[in-house]
Amino acid sequence: MSTEIRIKRITTRDIRARKGAEPLVVLTAYTAPIARLLDPVCDILLVGDSLGMVVYGMETTLGVTLDMMINHGKAVVRSSSKACVVVDMPFGSYQESKEQAFRNCARVMAETGCAAIKLEGGRELAETIRFLVDRGIPVMAHIGLKPQAVHAAGGFRAQGRLDAEAEAIRADARAITEAGAFSVVVEGTVEPVSRALSAEIGIPTIGIGASPACDGQVLVIDDVLGLFDDFTPKFVKRYADLRPLITQAVETYAAEVKARTFPGPDHCFGMPKK
Ligand code: KIV
Repeated sequence: MSTEIRIKRITTRDIRARKGAEPLVVLTAYTAPIARLLDPVCDILLVGDSLGMVVYGMETTLGVTLDMMINHGKAVVRSSSKACVVVDMPFGSYQESKEQAFRNCARVMAETGCAAIKLEGGRELAETIRFLVDRGIPVMAHIGLKPQAVHAAGGFRAQGRLDAEAEAIRADARAITEAGAFSVVVEGTVEPVSRALSAEIGIPTIGIGASPACDGQVLVIDDVLGLFDDFTPKFVKRYADLRPLITQAVETYAAEVKARTFPGPDHCFGMPKK
């Protein structure tokens, strides 16, 4: 008899049921080795389109393609067994019509094996979210600061300072909840607005720069590990600084190659040990 214990993957229903309970731990993951490391500690692994900036060196997320998201989504699903994996839909893959959104979301879910998709938008996407949810696609929404709308918004800046803006974000939160989203990322939003909308909607809010009033928190893993330093938003906390470690490791490698001390006998086939 096998003694193997299979850990059940966290589902979107489990996530939804965590509203008001223990905070949700969410990190981005884009690759197999990082997914393996994060899986035991995270409730959700988000294959975010931030990969365009942190993995591919793009200036914004706008150039990310569906194929990129699918390839990274596959790697993360394959290399995790516990966390709920959510894949971001890239810019232009869901805004045109609800039919276009369904076609592309269904492709992402079928090809990656992820549990849900994420898309950026509030009231303007409520009909699309309802269409997807009714057809079996669990949706995480993303409101407040929306990086895919960076040009329309005139840059990356905190949302909700003006009364009209605050009311619009709260209306977005209500609309995507009524449309059937199972959770929502709230990005770059001032504390009173994050607090108010977290209290008034019945699905978990996952904050990034949106205060501890949210039902969970998400960060970009490269920011957490100090691997991305093109810019550091105020809401990022760096928990480790891996860049000097990597630099030191590769400099030592280079020095040993040049001195012919690597590879040594332990790393060679048929080389006599002294
Ligand atoms: O793309 C991403 O990584 C995200 C998170 C920052 C929430 O959307």
